[in-house]
Amino acid sequence: MKNFAGKIAFITGAASGAGLGQAKVFSKAGMKVAIADVRQDALDKAVGEITAYSGAKASDVLALKVDLTNRDEYKAAADKVEATFGGPPHLLIQTAGVNSFGPVEASTFEDFDWVVGVCFNHVVNGLLIFVPRMIKAYAHKTEFYVATTSSMGAFMAGSGTGPYSAAKAAVNNLMYSYAEALKPYGGGATVLCPGNINSNIGNAEKFRPAHLKNTGYHISDGTIKHLNSVHATGIDPVELGEILKEAIESERVICLPDHNPENWANQLRGQNETIEDYTLPRTEREAKAAARMAEMMKQFAPKDGEEAPRPMMWEIPEGAEQFGQGRKDIDWLDDSRKAK
Ligand code: NAI
Repeated sequence: MKNFAGKIAFITGAASGAGLGQAKVFSKAGMKVAIADVRQDALDKAVGEITAYSGAKASDVLALKVDLTNRDEYKAAADKVEATFGGPPHLLIQTAGVNSFGPVEASTFEDFDWVVGVCFNHVVNGLLIFVPRMIKAYAHKTEFYVATTSSMGAFMAGSGTGPYSAAKAAVNNLMYSYAEALKPYGGGATVLCPGNINSNIGNAEKFRPAHLKNTGYHISDGTIKHLNSVHATGIDPVELGEILKEAIESERVICLPDHNPENWANQLRGQNETIEDYTLPRTEREAKAAARMAEMMKQFAPKDGEEAPRPMMWEIPEGAEQFGQGRKDIDWLDDSRKAK
């Protein structure tokens, strides 16, 4: 998709962070932008920020308060966009997401229902609600496109990121399917996989719905502070929005947007080799893994009197607590996996 001016975008999670950055970028590109989010106060603030950034008329930004995991609410929002802007979106960007980290073996059903509900189910809802409408309105007539904000977590699961990484891996695969599926209609798809964004996602726990509050993870003001300190070092949301725009223009199905894509490409190569190595006998596989680790660690060795680069560490700021631990009262959880 190359021409945005005068067309309609529908962006989820756009009251904050990456979605708000995308709304600014596509509003500046001349699109009418519908922003959907569950937080009314954040939506109210976002509309002014978007028009101030893009110079768009207030009537070209439509704010919709919607819990995107609720299909009826999502359908009502889709109807409202059509009624207001005269058609379904030409560009659907699904960016709403939440994160919550802790030992996967401590996860509750509520941890899965919340994280997978927002990060994956809302994406399914949007695709099923909008894609038929987009095909009927635009196939072979004008450009149309779907994009989703996934994560590098889609490619690399950790023992403390179970529901999140599983949801994002599912999102990636689904978007690969749509990228193929939409070709005959003249549409396309991109899945954006950032590593770290300077956003408000560290505060997501504060807005977790009441009926999903039961968590197996240790969550406190201190863990939220730690997580926020990590995200504060992430990429700027408007810069990320511009990178997504370029990816859509050049129809990159997968967009790896970080400052040094080669670092990610190397990590992904390592991941792929690890997968391939599972076809080998154990001793051979373990020797290859050790050699790969030794090669990786070379970058941290001091060279000719220079100070060695330090591996990236997520230091715990003053007054904060390590995030990603399990609840102290889970008696079957290994001590190494529990909050101290
Ligand atoms: P953010 O918290 O700043 O924005 C996410 C927005 O989604 C919030 O405004 C929130 O209210 C909204 N939202 C949450 N649940 C919702 C629901 N049920 N219905 C409607 N809206 C809902 O966070 P951020 O970081 O901008 O997140 C955007 C996307 O980027 C997410 O999908 C996240 O997983 C992904 N991502 C974030 C990374 C980061 O380091 N922050 C790294 C990689 C991916």
